[in-house]
Amino acid sequence: MLDYLITELSSDETQRTPGQRAFLLAVAALMDMRYPFTVGHSKRVARYATDIAVEIGLDSEFKRTLGFAGRVHDIGKVGISRTYLDKQGELTRDEMKEIQRHPLLSYEIVLEVTSLENVANIVLHHHERVDGHGYPHGLVEEAIPLGSRILCVADSFDAMTSERSYKPAMKVETALHELEQGASTQFDPGIVQAFIATFRRPNPNYLCTAYTNPYVQDRQEQGKIEAE
Ligand SMILES: [Fe+2]
Repeated sequence: MLDYLITELSSDETQRTPGQRAFLLAVAALMDMRYPFTVGHSKRVARYATDIAVEIGLDSEFKRTLGFAGRVHDIGKVGISRTYLDKQGELTRDEMKEIQRHPLLSYEIVLEVTSLENVANIVLHHHERVDGHGYPHGLVEEAIPLGSRILCVADSFDAMTSERSYKPAMKVETALHELEQGASTQFDPGIVQAFIATFRRPNPNYLCTAYTNPYVQDRQEQGKIEAE
């Protein structure tokens, strides 16, 4: 199972230190073992996030940081009971609170293993909302780190367009509309626009790579995505 990860890491992850590579490898493998239904999620989130970073003109160092944060943003879920993560149907308030601990757990793991405070901070705040109703700290607008605001859009889009045991995949156009609807409440509106701009380009890279959400790829192959 590790073969594809090793191949992948030997190509585009060469800028990282050996310790960081090993950490990423272990985390990615662990997540695949525990949550096979989300295989590829962190990879796609990293890809969407780095494309947004390019679109808004962020430098390559920030892009690398963001890519790494995308890969590890949900690792804290290893510390959350599967009883809650896999639960079908509505969660109780206490169960929801337990799941909402995962950004803090991700933060602590990243900091413990890599000492990368910038990555850890991005991960910590990836479920904040610009209206202040997110978690864990209820930060508002630009008090939320830029990387976290980017990750939030990328993460939400992939969650919406992916099939889960408890829901079907949303159509791409519907998901993009949902992002627009959530601009200025859940999402930073500028980042939503940047993401949509990357998505509208002819032949966006992530629609034709092995990192692609299979559902999104299928839609493109069927000619049902209108790339403008
Ligand atoms: Fe998360």
